[in-house]
Amino acid sequence: MAIRGSVETSLAELAARVRRRADGHSGRFLLGIAGPPGAGKSTLARGIRDELNLAAGASIAEVAPMDGFHLTNAQLRAAGFLDRKGEPDTFDIDGYVARLRTVRETEPGTPVSWPTYDREIHEPVPGGIVFDRQSIVVTEGNYLLLDDRAHPAWAAVRPLLDETWYLDVPRPIIEQRLLRRHIRGGRTLEAARTKVAHSDLRNAALVESTRTRADLVLRKAGRRYRID
Ligand SMILES: Nc1ncnc2c1ncn2[C@@H]1O[C@H](COP(=O)(O)OP(=O)(O)O)[C@@H](O)[C@H]1O
Ligand SMILES: [Mg+2]
Repeated sequence: MAIRGSVETSLAELAARVRRRADGHSGRFLLGIAGPPGAGKSTLARGIRDELNLAAGASIAEVAPMDGFHLTNAQLRAAGFLDRKGEPDTFDIDGYVARLRTVRETEPGTPVSWPTYDREIHEPVPGGIVFDRQSIVVTEGNYLLLDDRAHPAWAAVRPLLDETWYLDVPRPIIEQRLLRRHIRGGRTLEAARTKVAHSDLRNAALVESTRTRADLVLRKAGRRYRID
């Protein structure tokens, strides 16, 4: 009989699961964490990295944020996309796919740089991270599981990942977190509300449609995570 319901797990147990899979894998292991904006992907990715490194007593894992591939504000302005920043076509998708492939195919020990995104200057920062001896890559972002006709280039991401998780969070929580993030980033309350309503929640709906493609769906349950 099929077992229904969900299983509770901790960050340490999730990291141990990644370690087991990575150990049985030849070459670098790529874990992808997808989910809507504000779900806590970056936080979860850093948590998994830190648990992996702590348990190993060495730097075996590092985070590779999709956000590092935001187009620059100058590029967005030139294309007339600045007010749509964060939508699927406001990223350098080909650059992201190419760098995932490079980090996947490069032997640990040979440095590969990775861009980050700075939430104070609102711009990508080239070379913010460097992969060196790490054998586990945790890449995280909204559109890792996107596979539709409107955004065909994103479909190249999933085949490069060894495992994918989807982090699910109720809409009202996401809205609160995004409002706070935008205000912290310098917007007025009114401007933050507009950005959430007109941009973030539309992106969130698109991302939610990709949940069924994940290997694992996670929800936060207090200090633990529930696997659905
Ligand atoms: N598990 C959590 N519980 C409470 N707050 C969280 C949790 N994960 C993330 N947050 C908060 O929510 C906000 C968004 O988290 P972040 O990891 O940046 O999300 P994402 O990368 O999915 O956009 C941050 O302010 C973060 O501190
Ligand atoms: Mg993030």
